[in-house]
Amino acid sequence: MVFPGTFLGVWNLLQISGRESVLSISPAWLQAHGHAQVFGWVGSFILGIGFYSIPKMRGGAKSSFGTAWICWAMWTTGAALRWAANVYLWEWRFLLPLSAFLELAAFLIFFRAVSQHRPEASGKEKLGPWIWVVISASMGLLLVLVVNLCGCLFVSFRAASPAFPHLFDQRYLALMAWGFLVPFVWGFSAKWMTVFLGLKPLRTRWLLAALVVNLTGLELTVAGAGWIGSWLFVVAAAMAVTALRMFEASEKEAKIRGVHSSFPFFVRMAYIWLIVAAALGVAATRWDTSGGIWGASRHALTVGFISVMILSVGQRILPAFAGMRMLWSTKLMFAGLAFVTLGCTLRVSCEIIAYQGYAAWAWSVLPISALCELAGLTIYAINILGTFVLEPSHAQKQPLVVGLPVKIS
Ligand code: HEM
Repeated sequence: MVFPGTFLGVWNLLQISGRESVLSISPAWLQAHGHAQVFGWVGSFILGIGFYSIPKMRGGAKSSFGTAWICWAMWTTGAALRWAANVYLWEWRFLLPLSAFLELAAFLIFFRAVSQHRPEASGKEKLGPWIWVVISASMGLLLVLVVNLCGCLFVSFRAASPAFPHLFDQRYLALMAWGFLVPFVWGFSAKWMTVFLGLKPLRTRWLLAALVVNLTGLELTVAGAGWIGSWLFVVAAAMAVTALRMFEASEKEAKIRGVHSSFPFFVRMAYIWLIVAAALGVAATRWDTSGGIWGASRHALTVGFISVMILSVGQRILPAFAGMRMLWSTKLMFAGLAFVTLGCTLRVSCEIIAYQGYAAWAWSVLPISALCELAGLTIYAINILGTFVLEPSHAQKQPLVVGLPVKIS
């Protein structure tokens, strides 16, 4: 799912750089790229992890697997239809709302399955703070999907093209970024990073306060007070970093067995990108005249924060989730992360310089940035594929004899 959106993003950026103008590209194509990346790739990753963590699924009940497959089919069809309708414009007035409806329905199936999950034993155990953050992110995703459906219905009845109107799209993107993507990463960081990086214990109140400040910033931004809202995103990001103790000396050794030793570095790097994204958001509300500072802020967040985090955490957990496999290649893990980070650095800096008209040479760096990001994401996909196809699972390593695992000498 990473490829349709990435290829379109690269294609768009090559066109924009060639013509030295973002206005020459169809907004429907830009939006098809954004949608495919956020829903097709990141969304599928999140739904997959959510389903995995439901104990009933791990118990292997057939009906639960059926539910997961139905959800996957609807979600994937919805994302694919949106991509095709925006790019080819074929029957888009019908396909756009259909795709939004399928995605919303898939999420509701997922949500029903996840919300039936009760903590073990009495079911009265206290929910960890990270769960509240993930619940908030899930509500954010639900809201994004509802707004997306409304937007699709609006353009399908009223507009001349499948692209959302600019102002609506900007606020919808803010909701997607700060209402859904960011809290999800904070929630899962709170659950995993203390252990993975050996960090000092989480400051729970700071994390919950960061969530409240973030939601306030989001409300203000969506209401049109983007200047104050963007400042609140900076404060919230700094509070989340403080809560997670991301940049304090670790208490224990990081758990890097099976992954590249640079894993803790890249996770911290992702959080630096989060701060950069929030700071650029403030700069954009003040100085953006071309969409370049907004674009740089958006990609510092989606590529620098979200993608670097998925490449780091995905390669840490997915092999284990898929039958206790080992990651195929730790060197490829490093190469993928290095390419994405390099591409993102070039992109974020040169997008501002080029789009804002500060220096013309920056236009020629943007295609290189796109190819670096494409290379990084492709290496990641190859490594995950190699892990699933070539690495033996736990079951293959330890065959069962009369129900008991036997050790292979
Ligand atoms: C190979 C890497 C990528 C390239 C070359 C790329 C390129 C682009 C370009 C050219 C735009 C148009 C606006 C602008 O000029 O800034 C854009 C917008 C966008 N991108 Fe990317 N992108 C990449 C990766 C990603 C990833 C990984 C995500 C999300 C996880 C993402 C999410 C978005 C979103 C949400 C938009 C806004 C779409 C809209 O206007 O509605 N991009 N991207």
